[in-house]
Amino acid sequence: MTDDDPGTATDAAANAEGEAGESGTAVRRDRFSGGPAREFLSSLPADAAIFAADLAVDRAHTVMLAEQGIVDSAVAGEIIGALDDVEAAGHAELPDGEDVHEAIETAVIDRIGPDGGRMHTARSRNDEVATCIRYRLREDLLAAAEATVALREALLDVASEHTETVMPGYTHLQPAQPTTVAHYLLSYEGGVARDTERLLDAYDRVNRSPLGAAAFAGTPFDVDRDRTAELLGFDGQVRNSTDAASARDFLAEGATACATLATTLSGLAEDLVLFSNKGFVELSDAYASTSSIMPQKKNPDTLELTRGVAGDAIGEATGTLSLLKGLPRAYNRDLQRAHAGVFEIADDVREATEVAAGAVATADWDEGTLADAAGEGFSTATGVADLLAMGGIPFRTAHEIVAAAAEAVEDGDSPDAAAAKVDEAARKVTGEPLSAYVSREDVESALDPAASVASRDSAGGPAPEAVADELATAEAGIEEDDAALATARGALGDASEALDAEVESYV
Ligand code: ARG
Repeated sequence: MTDDDPGTATDAAANAEGEAGESGTAVRRDRFSGGPAREFLSSLPADAAIFAADLAVDRAHTVMLAEQGIVDSAVAGEIIGALDDVEAAGHAELPDGEDVHEAIETAVIDRIGPDGGRMHTARSRNDEVATCIRYRLREDLLAAAEATVALREALLDVASEHTETVMPGYTHLQPAQPTTVAHYLLSYEGGVARDTERLLDAYDRVNRSPLGAAAFAGTPFDVDRDRTAELLGFDGQVRNSTDAASARDFLAEGATACATLATTLSGLAEDLVLFSNKGFVELSDAYASTSSIMPQKKNPDTLELTRGVAGDAIGEATGTLSLLKGLPRAYNRDLQRAHAGVFEIADDVREATEVAAGAVATADWDEGTLADAAGEGFSTATGVADLLAMGGIPFRTAHEIVAAAAEAVEDGDSPDAAAAKVDEAARKVTGEPLSAYVSREDVESALDPAASVASRDSAGGPAPEAVADELATAEAGIEEDDAALATARGALGDASEALDAEVESYV
């Protein structure tokens, strides 16, 4: 007897007259009674993650079997009653088995006798497990996507309080151009918004039912695949039965969406660790930790852990693809190892996203320190070159003038002193004073970090009025994604209620 024959558990159960031996199971009975590889074969402990999913799949399948006249309604009622009992007892009370599917079937047969074996008619563990992991993963992806929306809300809230808070912007970790805290935070809102999109996109492809594919090659029973898909809240089917039983690309996609989100988070976390070091931002105590020996320390541990989760997530995505690479059609037991880690990483990444949201929402930005640092390293140089180019000097020449001035300009120079140095450089490079192109007043203003920021009002730029547009766009995007998530949650909730009601009518 192999799993490639749907419905064979019935015979096994009949032979055993409804009673599993001391260590037998419905499917294996005496053939899976022991041996050194037993634990290695079994996924039962890890299957706790799909215990609830398997019960739902069993219920939907049983309802469909009854509706199609494949199983008597009275027998369906007995099976459903037994499933309720198995659910109440919990995963930990399941009998031994290769996996949760077999263990639940054994538990049902133990309760109601050989008729319990009719539950496995017209299916295989192959389509069963594929359905269970999609059922479970869609919950995880929704939860992760919801966490991304909450993080975006936190970024947006803090950004809207800091549209005028000037801070240094870096490239290569060198002072580059002044920007604002709002503009900086919105840069992450944009990244996390794409992470939400990727998770929702992955969700759409996960949310399709493989149930009814049986082992991989369909079944002679007149199954209604639309009906089981509907009862389980799936938004359609994976039609080809071999594809349905074999495909795990959705796991790779879910893991990759999580790994990409974790990578976004790791950049935000790294920045905030650096900014804490510079005194730009102070984390709330709730998101910091201390040293067991150095009493003065306040460490950004939550952000370091957030940064660390990306390593695990990337490992999971890579591991999933590696496991799937080169697997022949249709089912191979390697697949048993493909999903548990994806559930775990989705959960870890969700948690990291929630922690990042909390850390962002409660952190304190030090406006004074930020303002002092914003002009360091002649960070306004590009703005001065832009001003000269706007006054008619070719940008390359303007760049040369300001580069020459940069040799002389020092942190702490007054605007007047710095402007004089730019003037001197202009005379050297062009033979003309700056006043031939721009007013001294405008040069001094371009040297001021806040004025420099205000001048960069191109679409998506850091000037407060450009940021006001970005805030509005971000808010609209959050509302849209929130609504999409509520719709998806609602559909799952409705399906689950409908299944409960359907099941009720049998007991
Ligand atoms: N526990 C198995 C898994 O996770 C279920 C499918 C077993 N199918 C089989 N043909 N042995 O993949």
